[in-house]
Amino acid sequence: MKGFLTLKNYKPEAIQNIINTAISFKNNDKVTVFSNKKMVTLFFENSTRTHISFQMAMLKLGITPVDVNISTSSVNKGESLYDTVKTLESIGFDGVVIRHSQNEYYKELENINIPIFNAGDGTSDHPTQTMLDLMTIYEEFGRFEGLKVCIVGDIRHSRVAHGNAEIMKRLGMEVYIAGPENFLDDTAPVMDIDEAIKTCDVINLLRVQFERHSDTQELNDKVYHEKYGMTETRAKNMKKGSIIIHPAPINRGIEIADSVVEGENSRIFAQMTNGVYIRMAVISMVLEGKL
Ligand code: NCD
Repeated sequence: MKGFLTLKNYKPEAIQNIINTAISFKNNDKVTVFSNKKMVTLFFENSTRTHISFQMAMLKLGITPVDVNISTSSVNKGESLYDTVKTLESIGFDGVVIRHSQNEYYKELENINIPIFNAGDGTSDHPTQTMLDLMTIYEEFGRFEGLKVCIVGDIRHSRVAHGNAEIMKRLGMEVYIAGPENFLDDTAPVMDIDEAIKTCDVINLLRVQFERHSDTQELNDKVYHEKYGMTETRAKNMKKGSIIIHPAPINRGIEIADSVVEGENSRIFAQMTNGVYIRMAVISMVLEGKL
């Protein structure tokens, strides 16, 4: 299957290659234009950043983006994912960007011939988000080896946590997790949040994924903020030179204090900018057969 589905089989050199391509797009180096190409976005779950930045990346590459509105599509008549994507291929699109609630949804798309770009599958993976996180870290530190990262919050329900931890470890980063016990899993060793604040180079905050919780044993927002959130005090106590990343959307006042969102250690909006260049890199490399 062609496309960009998971980073699990990517070697560190391939990761670096994507980042370098994204950086050259950001520096305004020559952009290949794919003016005769048309791609389609198919989002079964809500999204602002990923959806729109994939479209922006296409526009910057000269590709015409088209969106399928799931709520008015034949998905509501019971059409399967496979038949929906096969339809888009038959109509003549050159690639499809998909976000779906099912882990590894792409496994049922093996007979699709056009490239598939994974914009998030269930709680499993979100490879372009992981790449933009890595690009933001690389821009800051110029390396991955030896950096310490703590992923904080709703690890269990987060495709970003699972995708990030897997590749970060393979890139030589020391990965830890922190958060309430019922949000944790075996992704990485647990670290106390205040220890992480003092010692880690990267604090990777996560949104509390309320929509994926079946139990109602939620922590009160204020208690969550005090116990596990990036409060103003924690932001002041961060290791010198360390940064905060967060895939967004952010719950201001829950996982991060309002005033810290645009504070000096935060790279949250820089991540969004980088997301466009990463998606340009991934789309162009796949279309050119380099990925
Ligand atoms: C994330 C997602 O949907 O996986 N957001 C994103 O794509 N930027 C994380 C989230 O929704 O919390």
